[in-house]
Amino acid sequence: MLAGPDHGFRPNLYHPLEQAVLNRKTMTDSKNLWGGRFTGKPDETFAAFNNSFGFDKRLFGADVRASIAHANGLENAGVLTDKETAAITAGLRKLLENAGADKSFFDGSEAEDVHSFIESKLVAIIGETGKKLHTGRSRNDQVATAFRLWLRDEIRGISGDVKTLQKALIAAAERHKDAVLPGYTHMQRAQPVLWAHWCLAYFEMLARDLERLDEVTARVNILPLGSAALAGASFDIDREAVAQELGFQGVSKNSLDAVSDRDFAIEFAGSCSLIMVHLSRLAEDLIIYATAEFGFITLSDAVSTGSSLMPQKKNPDALELIRGKAGRVFGHQTALLATLKGLPLAYNKDMQEDKEAVFDCVDTVKTCVNVATIVIDNLTVNEALTLEAATKGYLNATELADYLVKKGVSFRTAHDAVGRIILDAINQGKELDELTHEDFAKVSSDIGDDVFESLSLEKTLASKSQTGGTSPIMVESALAEAKKRID
Ligand code: ARG
Repeated sequence: MLAGPDHGFRPNLYHPLEQAVLNRKTMTDSKNLWGGRFTGKPDETFAAFNNSFGFDKRLFGADVRASIAHANGLENAGVLTDKETAAITAGLRKLLENAGADKSFFDGSEAEDVHSFIESKLVAIIGETGKKLHTGRSRNDQVATAFRLWLRDEIRGISGDVKTLQKALIAAAERHKDAVLPGYTHMQRAQPVLWAHWCLAYFEMLARDLERLDEVTARVNILPLGSAALAGASFDIDREAVAQELGFQGVSKNSLDAVSDRDFAIEFAGSCSLIMVHLSRLAEDLIIYATAEFGFITLSDAVSTGSSLMPQKKNPDALELIRGKAGRVFGHQTALLATLKGLPLAYNKDMQEDKEAVFDCVDTVKTCVNVATIVIDNLTVNEALTLEAATKGYLNATELADYLVKKGVSFRTAHDAVGRIILDAINQGKELDELTHEDFAKVSSDIGDDVFESLSLEKTLASKSQTGGTSPIMVESALAEAKKRID
């Protein structure tokens, strides 16, 4: 008890009915893990509301693995005999096996959550010894452990899928190595870029997404087990050994924190949100490029749908769904932030809401990454059309200004001169390279005959030869480097 003013209030600890329950010999007749203290049954509507088994059964494998490590920890602490440990671990392994073999393994259970499900199944197989497994742990550190273990492995899977998408982008770049398309700012034609440069832009975004997933993994991969309900366990379990057995990089340093924070889940949802931002922008680019108005790419039938009414339609549904699903992932991150923000230490049941949010982030991101890969693998760039678009609309105007700069004109003066030349060209309905030398000379005496050469598409591209630029040589080496990074 904390020191404080004594109000002389002494709670009557147990109601007579409760005392009767406490006096019962065993608690085995209670279906859930906490029934002993209760005389009444949970309301059915409440029970359904409270139960998480319907979704947290996804943690089954992780929770069983963590339970095996916990049993070994209990044995090393002298709490379980080697025989008991062997029985428990064999029982848990059997459960893993049964779950793999029997499709209906999870069906029809009235378990409150995956943790009580596993315990009851274990006791059903090995008997009373199974009831010793929960020594020194609470579902609070148990769920945090299983969730982290599960998420760590899922992140590995997502990273693998993201790398596959990166490879698809490299392959698409190589399939259309010489393709040029207009680059845009404000959705207005700006300067020509290589198609491969566009592909590598998304490659880079995904590379940062992978880094983020790695960084999040380092914080996910910490063992909370041993924190028990909130204060720590009162058995001398070697937490480092348990962590090592489960492949965790370390153990949590504060039991209150370990059972009650979910910042790792929020960070994960944040990383997923950024992946979705990137996929959504890729989708948006390609949806525009696939319109009749642009005609830059053709999407495969494999990722398009038709209209029930308009026979001519071919709709980019795969890409629209990717763009649309971004919103739900952002929603999960916001929901997790909101769930956590007002929670007093330590565990509160609100935190059960973390599962579905994170599960759906995993499912949505994985599906979207995989569908994006199929889209990229199967699209065709209509190189003639992109080339035409890249050579119309004065995308070489900056080149002309740079030409004047090389002749000694200040960039500001050059910019103004080229603006006037463009206006003249628009009025004449011509591109810059269709103007005559006289047209140029009217505006600037610094423009010579050599101007036409520097206005060519080849020159325009080749001049962007700084690191990160779109010159063919630069893009070639960026592609080679990208391939090396992915290996
Ligand atoms: N299903 C619960 C969750 O996901 C498990 C932990 C329950 N702990 C408790 N003290 N009721 O958060």
